[in-house]
Amino acid sequence: MYSTAVLGCAWGDEAKAKIVDVLAKNADYVVRFQGGNNAGHTIKLKDKKYVFHLVPSGILYPEKTCLIGSGVVIDPFQLLAEMDKLKTQGILFENRFFIDPRAQIVLPLHRELDGKAEADSKQTNIGTTKRGIGPCYSDAIARYGIRFGDLFDKEYLRERMENFLRFHNYPISEVDNVLEELTAITEKLKPFLKQIPYLLNEVTDKNILFEGAQGALLDVTFGTYPFVTSSHTIAGGIAIGAGFGKKVDRTVGIFKSYYTRVGKGPFPTELHDETGNKIRIQGNEFGSTTGRPRRCGWFDAVAAKYTAMLNGIDEIAFTLLDVLSGFDTLKICTGYKIGDTITNEFPHSAKALEQAIPQYIELPGWNDDITGITEFNKLPRNAQKYIAKIEEFIGKNVTIVSVGPERGQTIFR
Ligand code: GDP
Ligand code: IMO
Ligand code: MG
Repeated sequence: MYSTAVLGCAWGDEAKAKIVDVLAKNADYVVRFQGGNNAGHTIKLKDKKYVFHLVPSGILYPEKTCLIGSGVVIDPFQLLAEMDKLKTQGILFENRFFIDPRAQIVLPLHRELDGKAEADSKQTNIGTTKRGIGPCYSDAIARYGIRFGDLFDKEYLRERMENFLRFHNYPISEVDNVLEELTAITEKLKPFLKQIPYLLNEVTDKNILFEGAQGALLDVTFGTYPFVTSSHTIAGGIAIGAGFGKKVDRTVGIFKSYYTRVGKGPFPTELHDETGNKIRIQGNEFGSTTGRPRRCGWFDAVAAKYTAMLNGIDEIAFTLLDVLSGFDTLKICTGYKIGDTITNEFPHSAKALEQAIPQYIELPGWNDDITGITEFNKLPRNAQKYIAKIEEFIGKNVTIVSVGPERGQTIFR
């Protein structure tokens, strides 16, 4: 058995799905372990584009098994809609797609609460995806949640649902309506129920690939709290979100060659000028889930060193490098000035990070189109130097470079 984790090391959208797709070739199981349909994972294959929200990105390979672990929050209506769409694109799910009974269910009320909190001017506005993720995880921790496995035991589900409605001060008389809606889809979901920890820990001859959603800077504890998502996005999330009791053999940290963020919260290297706009246009930086324009900025080596440390990465996959073609100079943030102090420690407080003034080094850019390059030493000299600098700051090697969205636009070193 050999296990690999692919983890986003920034604020999400680092092209995790593209790297998962490339690495899934050698995997038997591809596993999601946290997050929900707040994720938007895009794979381009020839003229086709697939966007996954809950389904693991390995599903494009017909012989791979795709698993959803206990740490994922599942909106069952959205999951079925996503599966239906994928079925029309020729993807089959029978006997190769399984969900852990412990995964929490996102209910319509969770979406409603998420939307309300975002609209409430007295609350901190996070800029969530409004998919009900935060309220669902809150209920899970408060022990009022409904779990995937509960859906298949009618009496127990009624008991749990009454408890849930009571907690949210909803009339208990609503229970029949809510249950009717859910029972209409449970038959469709039943074949996918399976205890994932047994599957993952008892195999000896399989390769397992863990697919992260979001990124380390959105981790509920280690990210830019409170401007974070509500799950454990870092490597530690794998143990609790998949019930994997072993050490992951290989951890690949995904870094975009520049930084982006959707939603609110501090972003020291954000560019509010034409350069930021140019990155957004060249990188097509618009959200895969919500369509929102992504905020764009320079590579932040202070944040990168922090997330590489948190994830214990072994190597780096460096993505969207082609987007940086056509800039005279490129900047890398190597320190923050906060008040009178210059630091290269990532602050624990969003308030402090908000005040951080990035300290940059400048490197010369390149103009060549690199989207057709397949060997590292064919990359422009300045692109190689840019990568070498990033490696120096993070202290790990770049082993994969992505120069375009397609499977083939990948350089292995
Ligand atoms: P994820 O959430 O981390 O899986 O990333 P997203 O799918 O949300 O966003 C990454 C976007 O970049 C998608 O539209 C991909 O098709 C695209 N993409 C992936 N790798 C590359 C690359 O190397 N170059 C370019 N230009 N686009 C890429
Ligand atoms: P992938 O997996 C980028 C952001 C939201 C918001 C914050 C909280 O595609 O990288 P939530 O709905 O989770 O409560 O929102 O987290 N966010 C993402 N940003 N990529 C994602 O997923 C994200 N999932 C959530 O924009 O700032
Ligand atoms: Mg995304």
